[in-house]
Amino acid sequence: MCGIVGYVGFRNAAPILIQGLRRLEYRGYDSFGIATLAGNVCVHKKTGKVSHISDSAEILQGTLGIGHTRWATHGIPSDINAHPHLDCNEKIAVVHNGIIENYASLKRDLIERGHIFRSDTDTEVIAHLLEEVYDDDLLVAVQKTLPFLAGSYAILVLSEGENRLIAARNQSPLVLGIGDGEIFAASDITPILEYTSRVIYLDDGDVADIRPEIYTVYMENKPVQKEINEITWTPDAVMKGGFAHYMLKEMFEQPDVIHHAVHAVIDSTLPRSLKEAKTITVVACGSSYHAGMIFRYLLEPACGIPVRLELGSEYKYTPVPFSDVIIGVSQSGETADTLAAVKKGICNNVRTVAITNVLNSSITRSAHDTILMHAGPEISVASSKSFIAQLGVLMQIVNLLAGGTCSEVLSHGRYAIEQILLTDITKAVDLCVSADHLFYVGRGVFYPVMMEGALKMKEISYIHAEAYAAGELKHGPFALLSPETPVIAICLPGTAYEVMLGNLKEMKARGTPIIALGIADDIELLEIADVVIPVPPAHQWIQVLTCTVLLQMIAYHTANALGREIDMPRNLAKSVTVE
Ligand code: M6R
Repeated sequence: MCGIVGYVGFRNAAPILIQGLRRLEYRGYDSFGIATLAGNVCVHKKTGKVSHISDSAEILQGTLGIGHTRWATHGIPSDINAHPHLDCNEKIAVVHNGIIENYASLKRDLIERGHIFRSDTDTEVIAHLLEEVYDDDLLVAVQKTLPFLAGSYAILVLSEGENRLIAARNQSPLVLGIGDGEIFAASDITPILEYTSRVIYLDDGDVADIRPEIYTVYMENKPVQKEINEITWTPDAVMKGGFAHYMLKEMFEQPDVIHHAVHAVIDSTLPRSLKEAKTITVVACGSSYHAGMIFRYLLEPACGIPVRLELGSEYKYTPVPFSDVIIGVSQSGETADTLAAVKKGICNNVRTVAITNVLNSSITRSAHDTILMHAGPEISVASSKSFIAQLGVLMQIVNLLAGGTCSEVLSHGRYAIEQILLTDITKAVDLCVSADHLFYVGRGVFYPVMMEGALKMKEISYIHAEAYAAGELKHGPFALLSPETPVIAICLPGTAYEVMLGNLKEMKARGTPIIALGIADDIELLEIADVVIPVPPAHQWIQVLTCTVLLQMIAYHTANALGREIDMPRNLAKSVTVE
């Protein structure tokens, strides 16, 4: 949600800022804007997509500037509410990610003191507060202003007459990219990667004075040394590389991703808290929650360790359950609810482990231990490769806790995914494209696989898709079955096979079209299902992976056939940084 970018150097800032905003589009937004300094503060901001930016923005002059993609929280998406926001005299410009919780009282006081507000945002108070204390030194003005702000922020500020940016962070990510004679700032590294691989992650409380050749970071108004990290992600990783969508590219990266994820943790790096755990709680949201559910289905029979699953957003309403360790699963490492749940665990003296894709993300700063899943940047809002990476890491944890008994199985993941990506799913897509509603059903570990499949379908195709444990359908949802409501089912040989076949027959008797993921030459299944998508015989863990990928493919191609905006579905943001 929201993205910020800043540049100070020797090049024209506007094109760099606009390109940076394009790189940040994946985070989700409804308006955008930039401000550059060319004598005066020049601003261009608009509702809609960065691709609709007018030429007048490209030619804004100045080698110093800030930009923002806004996902509306306070005030509707509009040109006025888009960032940057200015003070009364239009000499100071601010972009901000996060929420200023006390903005209403600050705004009331500022208005009483004569300030004129233009927007409904919480952010604008920052510009007016700065104006009140500004005395020819922007750094000092920011340092004086921050103590008045309650809530979360990553801000970038510029001011007329000063060739520098001031950046500040509190509970919202902010990264500096250190180039030669130029410095970049952004909410994540995607806008920075094509210019430099040297980055500094700011910490909560840091304030950075950024000039073309030099930067100084302050904590409590005193300069502090920051480590420069060398980033290994390449600029190509944030480009489409010939694929029609990022999601498709990311799906095709999954053979490598599973390989890297499985090797992301080995016995000697497995956190001790996990090795010694008698009970585990997993906290997560969305797809990451589904990965956690799959983990439960695999760990409990393999190791006899009970796993409790908690939605990040619900965790705050329950007493902390007894557990030796909490695993927070979050691709972005910035999901507010998951972060809050991990912090609540820490306050209650529970050991915490973060499983995340983003080095130095907020969750890694909170949790006692971190396992990075090494999926590379995921740009598409819909999780695909990061979900597979989460499964890779979680399966490897089960494997290690079970004494390495599944290492051989896991080594087949890469090839299995490579092959499954070649499957023809056209007939299934044809059935889905014309449906308004879909049911996804599975049993056992394939139930959360179906939950993930249904989530993918609804978020990118906008078709209503509901996942059910197959046994639950008869307890109500059966009333909705009809020839217009296809059911997608996983029906593979194993413990639940016979009963699944029985369920499918009952559905078929209601005229429901059935798309089954099953074994290619399963005669009985072929008789019941309208379409059978072949799943190669393999160990159940491998079939969890292959079925997941097939469901991603069905969702992707259905959404594509419907002409949806796959990488940036309406109303959604890549990382949900507010509760
Ligand atoms: O970054 P996180 O894994 O914490 O994100 C949690 C969810 O927002 C996320 O998994 C979301 O459900 C997916 N992008 C959906 O595809």
